[in-house]
Amino acid sequence: MITIKSEREIELMRESGALVAKVLDLLETEIKPGMTTKQLDTMAEEFIRDHHAVPSFLNYAPKGDPDVTPYPATLCVSINEEVVHGVPSAKRVVKEGDIVSVDCGVYKGGYHGDAARTFVLGVIDEQVQQLVDATRECLYRGIAMAVEGNRLHDISSAIEEYARSFRYSVIENMVGHGIGSELHEEPAVPNYGRKHTGVKLREGMTLAIEPMIALGRSRKAISRRGGWVAVTEDGKPSAHFEHTIVVRAGKAEILTSTFLDEKHS
Ligand code: MF3
Ligand code: CO
Repeated sequence: MITIKSEREIELMRESGALVAKVLDLLETEIKPGMTTKQLDTMAEEFIRDHHAVPSFLNYAPKGDPDVTPYPATLCVSINEEVVHGVPSAKRVVKEGDIVSVDCGVYKGGYHGDAARTFVLGVIDEQVQQLVDATRECLYRGIAMAVEGNRLHDISSAIEEYARSFRYSVIENMVGHGIGSELHEEPAVPNYGRKHTGVKLREGMTLAIEPMIALGRSRKAISRRGGWVAVTEDGKPSAHFEHTIVVRAGKAEILTSTFLDEKHS
């Protein structure tokens, strides 16, 4: 079932969304070559708790997969060929030339906010920079379709079309999702699909739209048995951007944007 949120619920989701966005702004400002992914995680967790909220991902256990242990951190920090769910570690150091995808969720006032950005460290390969820029644009093209009266896969196809125009590959086994009092709600929001298909979008639906786009040919992100991190099949870099949005008539409302984030787009 897809729930339609009331304006009161959306007001609460605005607060969770604003906090996630602030966490990402903080990390975007602080991330430097030489830092460990654990340092980023600690910074995020302290900030979230200081703001009377709880990290959504910490101890999250996907239903129906006994092999996977509960998620042990606040952030997912996924470097280069890591697509998503990189687990922060004191042994993992970020360096100049890396792309670092940081995904964060917070739970506050009974509702979740979820967002991700891929940060670029120093001067990077031009092709990889283009991948990062295009993945961000994929997200905004998807969001532009998230209006009342459109169908769900209008979002998906807008993302896929833009990615394909660069001959990038769309990761198909990881998808966006509805969001609200649960981190993952219906519907699944794939990053590929046929326009004019899927459920009708209605004002008050809240979605986490999250394109994961890679150089090379990998259409899947794979993880080792029992492990969290998911990597491209061919080891090529992958980027990830995510916003939590509200479907509206005319124009979607983004709950996780900030001035710093908008500056890039
Ligand atoms: N933004 C991702 C998602 O919505 C991150 C989930 S990490 C997990 O699926 F630990 F919560 F699984
Ligand atoms: Co998400």
